[in-house]
This record gives sequence, C-alpha cells and structure tokens, in this order.
Amino acid sequence: MKRLAAAATTALMVAFASGDGHAAGGTLAPAQKWSFGGVFGTFDRGDLQRGLQVYRSVCSNCHSLKLIAFRNLEGLGLSPEEVQAIAGEYEVTDGPDDEGEMYSRAARAADRFPSPFANDQAARASNGGALPPDLSLITKGRAGESVFKGTKFREYGADYVYALMTGYEEEPPEGVTLMDGMHYNHYFPGHQIAMAPPLFDEAVEYTDGTEATLQQHAHDIATFLAWAADPNAEERKRIGIKAILFVTILSVMLYAVKKKIWSDLH
Ligand code: HEC
Repeated sequence: MKRLAAAATTALMVAFASGDGHAAGGTLAPAQKWSFGGVFGTFDRGDLQRGLQVYRSVCSNCHSLKLIAFRNLEGLGLSPEEVQAIAGEYEVTDGPDDEGEMYSRAARAADRFPSPFANDQAARASNGGALPPDLSLITKGRAGESVFKGTKFREYGADYVYALMTGYEEEPPEGVTLMDGMHYNHYFPGHQIAMAPPLFDEAVEYTDGTEATLQQHAHDIATFLAWAADPNAEERKRIGIKAILFVTILSVMLYAVKKKIWSDLH
C-alpha cells in the first residue's frame, strides 16, 4: 500500500513537472483542433484527401504504410474508379508464377501500399543508419505521452505529428551540438532527429486549390495518419451512438411498462 502511494505521488509529481510542457527528452505537443475530435467528430474529407496527396508525394519516399490497402481509400470519399487509378500507379511483387518466379505487376485495389525499401537494412542504408518507421499506426504509437497532460488521448498522436512537422529549428539552442546528419526538432524526444524537414511551404501543390502552407500540409498529413491508424473510427462512433439511443429508448419504455403493471397492485 505504501509503495502504491509512493508510486502515485511520483506519478503526480511527474504530471506537474511536465505541466510546463517538458516531458523527459521531448516537449509535449500543443493540442490542435481536429475535425475528428470528440464523440461526434468525423474526418474532414478535404483534409484526408490532401493528406493522402502529401503522403504520396513526400512521405512515401521513405515511409511505408503497410496496413493500408488501396481499397481502404474509399473511406476518404474516393470512388472505386479513383482508387483503381491510384493503385494502378504502383507496382507490387506477386507470384510465384508457373515457373516459380516472382514477378511485378500493377497494383490492384486489394493490394496494400508497397514499401519504398525492400527491407529495413536498405531503408537504414539510405537514411544515414536511421530507420523511417512504418506510418500505419504512428499516431497511436505516439499517443501515450499525453496521459499526464490531460490532452485528449486519441488526438494526441495527430498533435504530435503536426508538432513534429512544424517543430524544426534551423539552429539548435546554445550549448547543443548536433550530431552528424541530425536535425534539431523541438518536439522529437531528445530533439535530434535523422529525418530532414520533409515539409515546407509549397512542398505539395494541392489539386483542390487549397493554399499550400507548411501548417496546412502538417494539418492534412496528421489527419490522414490519424485516419490510417483507425480507419473504422467513424463507423464505430455511429454504432456507439445508435446503441446508446437504443438503450435510452428501451429504458424509457421499460419504465413505462413497469409503472403500468405495478399501478394495479397498489
Ligand atoms: C528522406 C526520407 C524521409 C522522408 C521523405 C520523410 N521521413 Fe519521416 N523519418 C525518416 C527517418 C530516417 C526517420 C527516423 C528518425 C530518427 O529516428 O531519428 C523518420 C521518422 C519519422 C517519424 C517518427 C518520429 C518519432 O517520434 O519516432 C514520423 C512521425 C515521421 N518520420 C513522419 C514523416 C512524415 C509525415 C513525412 C511526410 C510529410 C515524412 N516523415 C517524410 C525519413 C523520412
């Protein structure tokens, strides 16, 4: 019991200590406004489709998105034809054929996004020894930091991606020496990151005419990655709301019935 109390006190102290925004080695990301936040939030289709564009033109050069199949993109509001057209721009390895050989073919809707590198070693070799992580679940993987901060857990992963994209500083603060090939990022744990700033104003020309600022790019890719980590979130929320409505109505009806039955017995 004593140990439990001690652990709780430590936890509280950590919580207060990080109240100024400094967690161990990194800095907690400020909360942003997300279309998908809260119980009734739904993903903004414009954000999602622009985010896909950012992933496809920038991030996919280094990061895989292994858990997302092209057909999942219908969830972004794309038609099956549009999805087919996107898939057709990629090549995947299939096989073996009748001779036992693997071969490559154009991707189909059912295929997943192919990875930019053949394996982790090749990925590291191209990135100065650092491994660009798969981005399918990154917003979930980085959500844990929020627990003490009271930031909404589910949205923190997106806050973090946004902060990481916009948190580069050209010069490290006084007294900090950057290691070779590293870049200073305010929000990356330890601050030294092997990824060069991937986004900047006009990094991607949006097909829908939205102004292409760094902040807009960061917002869109963070929304897209939050969706990728949880493509069924909207469906689940819809079912949840229906279930609650059902239980509420059922309770009212049962109460009315109970009243009616018991009224004769008094
Ligand atoms: C030129 C290659 C390259 C590109 C392009 C690139 N990244 Fe990275 N990224 C990396 C590498 C390498 C790391 C690992 C960094 C490290 O461990 O120091 C990384 C790490 C990350 C991380 C993990 C940070 C953490 O907390 O561990 C995220 C998130 C990320 N990148 C997002 C993106 C997004 C979003 C894009 C597109 C806008 C992008 N990256 C484009 C190479 C790249």
